[in-house]
Amino acid sequence: MNETISVFDGRVAVVTGAAGNIGLATCRMLCEAGVKVAATDLDADRLEARIAPIREQGLDIRAYEQDVTNRTATEAVFAKIIDDFGKIDILVNNAGVWNHRDVRGRQRFEEMDEEEIRRIVEINLFGVMNCAHAVLPRMVSLGYGRIVNLGSIAGEVGLPGYADYAACKAAVIRFTQTLAMENASCGITVNSVSPGMILEKVVPHNGTWVGRTGAPEEVARAIVFLASDTAGYLTGVDIPVDGGRILGPHAASFPGSQA
Ligand SMILES: NC(=O)c1ccc[n+]([C@@H]2O[C@H](COP(=O)([O-])OP(=O)(O)OC[C@H]3O[C@@H](n4cnc5c(N)ncnc54)[C@H](O)[C@@H]3O)[C@@H](O)[C@H]2O)c1
Repeated sequence: MNETISVFDGRVAVVTGAAGNIGLATCRMLCEAGVKVAATDLDADRLEARIAPIREQGLDIRAYEQDVTNRTATEAVFAKIIDDFGKIDILVNNAGVWNHRDVRGRQRFEEMDEEEIRRIVEINLFGVMNCAHAVLPRMVSLGYGRIVNLGSIAGEVGLPGYADYAACKAAVIRFTQTLAMENASCGITVNSVSPGMILEKVVPHNGTWVGRTGAPEEVARAIVFLASDTAGYLTGVDIPVDGGRILGPHAASFPGSQA
């Protein structure tokens, strides 16, 4: 057995929501590990602009416009990716929004607009399901696959003001476990990574035990490990990348804490 962590043997990955912070960091890290990457996003222009520096490094990454909420279009995009790259070994189900129009602040559940709730569920839950649905038959016929879904600390312990998003992320974690069980005998692992508060620029934060926010690269590292050939004995696992937030709220009064 190869003793190196995160080995990839000629693998092809799809990363959804790749124009976003965690998606982009994941694309870069996979490319640098030798993986060919199909980067997809709803916002094709932003995606193209953000992946250009990776391509300029001579790494194999291509951009595809995709709306994960559209199952038919998703099937077509994945078919195109297979035409271009020959196969899909890895799916990183990263596209997700906690606040779809970026206008809504925290809201009590009973104040939420039904249309907004449906949109949140369409993107965060159906989006993950649509991509898994498109890729699984191909992975089963290959006898190999790595699926990494993005959960959230909100899906683990809840997030007041974002009940719809928290419900979706909890569902994604259980969906992950169930797909892991259904596909383990086919050489396919299915895991999730649950970020805490991740910002492009790390800042001090007393809501985590580590005392700061996390960086997109810190989440990407966990995703890349689970996506690697060497992680074949981990399935149905959720890795929280949250500065210890899952352990409970930070107790500022604990001796030695950094509050
Ligand atoms: N950043 C955090 O603090 C945090 C915390 C917990 C979980 N997460 C999860 O991690 C993932 C990535 O988060 P991020 O902070 O990088 O987000 P981001 O907002 O930077 O990127 C999300 C990307 O998804 C794309 N997208 C939105 N709707 C889409 C659709 N219908 N089809 C395809 N693409 C679509 C957006 O265009 C955007 O580029 C998400 O699933 C998010 O819920 C993030």
